[in-house]
Amino acid sequence: MNRVVVVSNRVPAAPRGSQQAGGLAVALDAMMGRRGGLWFGWSGEVTSAGRNAPVIKRDGAVEYATIDLTEVEHRGYYAGYSNDVLWPMLHNLPQLMHFRRSDYDCYMRVNRRFADHLVPMLRPDDAIWVHDYQLMALPGALRARGVTNNAGFFLHVPFPAPEAVAAAPGIKRVLRELMGSDLLGFQTRTDRDNFAATAALLLRAERFDAEHISLDGHAVQLGVFPVEIAAEEFAQTAAAQVQLPPSRRLATSLGGRALLLGIDRMDPTKGLPERLDAYGRLLARRPPRSTTMLNIAAPSREDVPAYRTLRHDLETAAGAINSAFGEPDWTPLRLIAKAQGRDTLAGFMRLARVGVVTPIRDGMNLVAKEFIAAQDPADPGVLILSLFAGAAAQLGSALLVNPHDVESMADAMQQALDMPPGERRERWKLAWNAIRGATPEEWGESFMHVLTDNRLAAMPV
Ligand code: F6P
Repeated sequence: MNRVVVVSNRVPAAPRGSQQAGGLAVALDAMMGRRGGLWFGWSGEVTSAGRNAPVIKRDGAVEYATIDLTEVEHRGYYAGYSNDVLWPMLHNLPQLMHFRRSDYDCYMRVNRRFADHLVPMLRPDDAIWVHDYQLMALPGALRARGVTNNAGFFLHVPFPAPEAVAAAPGIKRVLRELMGSDLLGFQTRTDRDNFAATAALLLRAERFDAEHISLDGHAVQLGVFPVEIAAEEFAQTAAAQVQLPPSRRLATSLGGRALLLGIDRMDPTKGLPERLDAYGRLLARRPPRSTTMLNIAAPSREDVPAYRTLRHDLETAAGAINSAFGEPDWTPLRLIAKAQGRDTLAGFMRLARVGVVTPIRDGMNLVAKEFIAAQDPADPGVLILSLFAGAAAQLGSALLVNPHDVESMADAMQQALDMPPGERRERWKLAWNAIRGATPEEWGESFMHVLTDNRLAAMPV
């Protein structure tokens, strides 16, 4: 079996299995734990000089190699081009893009620095698996350094239509570098097809079929690999956690009211202002004191101005809702800007009558799957899910909503709260059947299987 070398911007802190918030880390941790290998990326530290050699830590069969970023790199590569240009573009929010040429240069430079550090650690039969938009130029940088190993790339976030992609300055060069991969993986067919169309239009790549394209004589396979969760395991965690003090305290504080629950990073793509607006409209329609909405919005990327503005706007909106609808003994909306452990959240999900997952755009959204897994099969809650989350392709029995239509989101909240137990069970069962058999290990292994398949090398060009 080939050793796998995972490269991602964020590397979970060893030891493995410690609580992770990001979907990427959750998805990969299980496969790495079982298979072993090397995981290389940013340490999460910003140091003034930047360390030269990667720091290596071992946990079981996994070796973690990390480098620090300098302040300039963090600003230009991470906060700048990655999160102030690529992130909004990939989520089709061009109005949030802020391009600075120096950020783009820094992004390319840091991708090359990743390659410089990685190359000496590689063995001839390693399969290299690069993750996410922060490292789209890495496959090309590896090729430029003579690396001939199989190299795959998985995009955890959506990939929009060509016109949206073209709006990001510098993107053509970045996509050219990405085409150094042998295999490109996406969350949904739409993402894959958008990529193929973009490569044809912007790079003049040749298209053979839905799964094969080539550029300058190099063939690239495209695949769809929706990220999965360990559903059975999460269900057990939720059933155990709901008995423990954090869930008990939350249950007591609800005083028998139905709980609507949202769990997100505080990110402009998550549709949080629209969700609060919809909840305000719901409150105007329902008897006072009948519901509580809890939004746990973990602060994220606070050095990007749009994220700071969002927090301010949400705090203002939450205050306005509570002052308009609250009672001396009832706070209808709780907005908590603090990350919580994944296990604790599993218990909260089991307590909730309604899970509200309403992003404007999202690659997959694992919270949607976790909410389904966390439910009590005898008395399950209802999932309200944005049509624009990748998870909607698999969870069609949820109440699917358009987050831009806040009135209809309020309707869906009302419908969820009033839904008879029989319909709740039916909808839940369909969703559970869609996710129960899958595991993140299998997701990772299926990507690795295609990446290390000899037929990749024999693809037409
Ligand atoms: O899953 C998408 C993603 O952007 C990952 O690449 C990332 O690690 C995670 O969300 C959290 O974002 P950040 O690393 O910027 O805190």
